Amino acid sequence: MIVTIDGVAASGKSSVSSGVAQALGVPYVSSGLLYRAVTLLGLNAGADLADAATLLPLLSGVRLEPLASGNRVWNAGADLTADLHSTRVDAGVSTVAAIPQIRQWVDDQLRALPAPLVAEGRDMGTNVFPYAQHKFYLTASPRVRAERRAKERPEDIPAIEAALTERDRQDTTQSAPAPDARVIDTGPLTLQGVIDTILEHLR
Ligand code: CDP
Repeated sequence: MIVTIDGVAASGKSSVSSGVAQALGVPYVSSGLLYRAVTLLGLNAGADLADAATLLPLLSGVRLEPLASGNRVWNAGADLTADLHSTRVDAGVSTVAAIPQIRQWVDDQLRALPAPLVAEGRDMGTNVFPYAQHKFYLTASPRVRAERRAKERPEDIPAIEAALTERDRQDTTQSAPAPDARVIDTGPLTLQGVIDTILEHLR
């Protein structure tokens, strides 16, 4: 069984996926963390984030550890996870995610994982696992999402909202909901409320 949970930036995908995966007793995988890891390695190498030929050689040691409690990304034995949610990675990641060869590399990592699993990102239900049995798509207004993310970033809410809206715009191509996905507006719901809504649909 594969469950896909896609959605716009900061719609709560990772927390919801972790909760659903723990309730089901299966791992979840965050595709965004892989795009973030490529971005971090590119920034640290001083690379042009639009240049596949420079980025791809940096990825040979990258490994995703899909724990239900929270994914970790390793590079040659070093844990990158704590550095993947900085404002500079936020600002560069959509450029990296627009490169077809990088998308292919991420897709290959994900498809190599054994089911059952919960997969979260933008294109899990459309592109990576189109045959998934259960698909969800999370939305919320930009302001609600910015208010949530302000708890995890140093910037103020208007600056975070502007950055999220810009990232949504850059991510438009890969962010269309699957036609067979159930769309959930998470605005009026608590985190547990979203998790429970998904679990009810899975029963
Ligand atoms: O948590 P948040 O929604 O802010 O971001 P994320 O899920 O970690 O994704 C970070 C970035 O990776 C997105 O803004 C997209 O540019 C890219 N991404 C993508 O293109 N396709 C995916 N399946 C997942 C993420």
